[in-house]
Amino acid sequence: MSNISNYKDYLNSHKVRFLDELFELLRIPSVSADSKYKQDVQRAADFVKSKLEAAGVEKVEICETQKHPIVYGEKVVDTSLPTILVYGHYDVQPADPLELWESPPFEPTIRDNRIHARGSCDDKGQFYMHVKAFETLNACGSLPCNVKFMIEGEEEIGSANLASFVKENADKLASDIILISDTSMISMEHPSITAGLKGLCYMEVEVTGPKRDLHSGTYGGAVANPVNVLCDIIARLKDEHQRITIPGFYDKVVELSEDERKKIAEAPFNLEKYKEALDVEDVMGEAGYSTVERTGIRPTLDVNGIWGGYIGEGAKTVLPSKAYAKISMRLVPDQSSKEIEKLFTDYFISLAPKGVKVKVSPHHGGEPVVTPIDSLAFKAAEEAFLEGWGKKPIPTRDGGSIPIVALFDKVLKTKSILMGFGLDKDAIHSPNESYGIDNFYKGIETIILFHKHFARIMKK
Ligand code: BES
Ligand code: MN
Ligand code: MN
Repeated sequence: MSNISNYKDYLNSHKVRFLDELFELLRIPSVSADSKYKQDVQRAADFVKSKLEAAGVEKVEICETQKHPIVYGEKVVDTSLPTILVYGHYDVQPADPLELWESPPFEPTIRDNRIHARGSCDDKGQFYMHVKAFETLNACGSLPCNVKFMIEGEEEIGSANLASFVKENADKLASDIILISDTSMISMEHPSITAGLKGLCYMEVEVTGPKRDLHSGTYGGAVANPVNVLCDIIARLKDEHQRITIPGFYDKVVELSEDERKKIAEAPFNLEKYKEALDVEDVMGEAGYSTVERTGIRPTLDVNGIWGGYIGEGAKTVLPSKAYAKISMRLVPDQSSKEIEKLFTDYFISLAPKGVKVKVSPHHGGEPVVTPIDSLAFKAAEEAFLEGWGKKPIPTRDGGSIPIVALFDKVLKTKSILMGFGLDKDAIHSPNESYGIDNFYKGIETIILFHKHFARIMKK
């Protein structure tokens, strides 16, 4: 292996440009969910391609799909070296509600040493660290591993086309480890590595009462009001202990051992600070589990949106004809999104009174995943943090989902390392999303160190 100790000089002399480039990427509103931004999503893919090429990645291609393209590229230095496949996504969530942004979502602005922009953390700022880590290693003539890049444009809408791409290109995507920065860590003082992600089952329900809106005086109290009914059904999806009441919902849930739970409880977590940061008097969740367990290892059910009836200015006395809700369930091993979809649908329909019709339909889903913490790759990640942060990273389980990770496991038979550098305060998916400039630079360095240690450990 060549000498990579001079990477620090390279980083230092190019760090301003690295940030400028990220800003350029953040200015492209690559919102995958909204067809209005189709051209911008394409532009972001083109940008990624050109930057991968400029960094020295070879065979870079834009792989068109039925929706948004996947950018793929690789540099195979020596087939006897280990190979790292980097996965990330250049698409972002919609920016609304726009009025809550302190600076425009697609005009990156630095405040408090943080980059404020949609996608700054999720995931442009994070995957771009890998492009710059690669550039640095390559420029210093010291790539210790072969590297492949697969950056997609549909993560925020379920990665449907990536799934088929992965199945069709399994040989091309072969690697020893998949490296992903699209998660968060506990804090700058307590770096952590995500060792588990939740699965997702996202449903939409429609409740229809009378065939038209009715006068709420003339008809009120005499026919089923779909908004009332919907609220009632939703309320019955959990009991007073915040346990989900869907029959069979917990059947496949893997209960953790006392030992595992003790480990989880050792990770630093300050409930008072947590409440303060969210401005809530108290937390709420499944009885018998801590907040960290509720978000990390227990399945959950939440209404993400609910609407129906009159919501304009003033009061309109109307008994609405229809009511709707979007409901997500976050899943843990060994729940299956398809099975939960069926259990939810059957139960929801069973709770509806005769006076309404209900329609239950699924949006995207994904399976939960747990990644090993005793592998050589995890060891390499630990060493990278030890060298870069002076601390051993704490393994955690996240409540978020990156459904493609379970598919990597199943189809490519390859494990992932979820080395994310985000923080809770980054407010991903929210107005004023941000990413620490220090996280960006430290992330690049840690990734470089991972390459170094992974090559070393794999050689033994
Ligand atoms: N990067 C997130 C997932 C994430 C965030 C994992 C924080 C762990 C910690 C990803 O972009 C995301 O938002 N995923 C979606 C699921 C997807 C199917 C829309 C999610 O978790 O809601
Ligand atoms: Mn993401
Ligand atoms: Mn996201």
